[in-house]
Amino acid sequence: MRVLFVTSEIAPLIKTGGLADVSAALPAELHAMGVDVRVLLPGYAQVLKACPVLESVAQLAGLPGLPEVNLLQGTLPDGVPFWVIDCPEMYQRGGGIYQDEHGQDWPDNALRFGLLSKVAALLGSSATPLQWRPDVVHCNDWQSALTPAYLHYAEGAVPVVMTVHNLAFQGIFPSSVVPELGLSWDSFKPDGAEFYGNLSFLKAGLFYARHITTVSPSYAQEIQKDELGFGLQGLLASRSESLTGILNGIDNAEWNPEADINIAQPYSAANLSGKAASKQALQKHMGLRVDPDIPVLGMVSRFTQQKGLDMVLEIAPELIALPAQLVLLGSGDTDMQRKALDLAHHYPGQIGAYVGFDEGLSHLIEAGADIFLMPSRFEPCGLNQMYSQRYGTPPVVHATGGLRDSVVDCNAATLGRGDATGFVFDMLTTQSLLNTVQRAVTAFHDKGVWTALQRNGMGKNFGWEKSAAAYLKIYSAL
Ligand code: ADP
Ligand code: GLC
Repeated sequence: MRVLFVTSEIAPLIKTGGLADVSAALPAELHAMGVDVRVLLPGYAQVLKACPVLESVAQLAGLPGLPEVNLLQGTLPDGVPFWVIDCPEMYQRGGGIYQDEHGQDWPDNALRFGLLSKVAALLGSSATPLQWRPDVVHCNDWQSALTPAYLHYAEGAVPVVMTVHNLAFQGIFPSSVVPELGLSWDSFKPDGAEFYGNLSFLKAGLFYARHITTVSPSYAQEIQKDELGFGLQGLLASRSESLTGILNGIDNAEWNPEADINIAQPYSAANLSGKAASKQALQKHMGLRVDPDIPVLGMVSRFTQQKGLDMVLEIAPELIALPAQLVLLGSGDTDMQRKALDLAHHYPGQIGAYVGFDEGLSHLIEAGADIFLMPSRFEPCGLNQMYSQRYGTPPVVHATGGLRDSVVDCNAATLGRGDATGFVFDMLTTQSLLNTVQRAVTAFHDKGVWTALQRNGMGKNFGWEKSAAAYLKIYSAL
């Protein structure tokens, strides 16, 4: 089985969120299972800097107005071969990969990710200059979602699996980009890539792909309904026969409290004592009062409405009055960034906030916090709630998407059965969030209950084996 895995980010080379983690771990697991999987990604400055020795393997025609692009080849640390699209005018610049330094989307994103999709389509058709031909192209999110639309009009096209990691981002652009993308006008129709007069990358992907997956079973249901369908619920419901929800796994080697260089001391389910050292290190690092007995609430997240951080900021004074301490790590929305920093300033020793991206600190928070917060409004899968269970840091989550599918609420019955791993709330209100954190804090002070919860979470296997096998089954069926 030969699979071309197309992605706009991959850890540790370039990461803004969970897609990068998945793009690293899923191909690695497939590779270990004997699948000939290769990754295709844009040649951002950060990627070329991190991989200085790449071999040029082909020159390809890209988009109509652009010069030919150079396809570079390398091998990822876990043995997966990858190709990088070298096109300096599209990918080599300062700022972020989707936005400039002021947080504005790059004005030429349609072309930047149209090019990624176009190259993927080329490699998945008989026009490829390479010896290697995939059996399946696996696309991820809107950035590569135009691939099946291109392939629809190509000779010798292979089937496409389209994975939705987040329906909130669709890649919607004015119709004027259609010719610039070299896309057939024939695709620009309601039964195709058109979305209320604009071009939608994601809609094209959902319409033309042979199979659609999303990253949890619950989210696969939710996106077929008005509330979380973001306007695509009708199309998704009409394709429900070809839509599968597969819960993401986590990289058990990367996220392992027994061998994590970012934490103060290793620990395991059998011997949790080392966790206290990370808690102390975290309290010191974030300027909090060092106290082993007060529960530390941790949150690591993109600062957006999706993640419900605004609710946490709103009730921060009530949270620390429980009493508890609060640690926030993330970046994004400038208002939320300012509020988080203001709170830390206002409640020194009780609230700590770091605005920015810090991989090491994210691991320390998973290990050093006692309770992890994830009150997301919606969450396709979410990874941090799985990391936190593995680190003995029971999560408080809203019952949505992958959070619902990966956390078991703590109550007498689930505790008795030995499968309680966290705290789940249904109603999305600050009051119910506060009540649920209160419930977690009460449990934290009951040593027996708490240790049981920690051990239950740490004992769960969130590894990729099962999920990778589910993807392989879909590839094989195509
Ligand atoms: P999403 O992809 O929606 O952002 P996930 O929970 O799937 O949410 O994945 C987020 C990933 O990004 C996790 O690995 C998380 O630790 C990481 N992350 C998010 N923000 C930061 C940050 N500021 N610093 C370090 N890691 C972060
Ligand atoms: C998206 C989602 C997140 C998911 C991640 C990886 O960014 O917001 O829930 O875990 O993709 O699939």
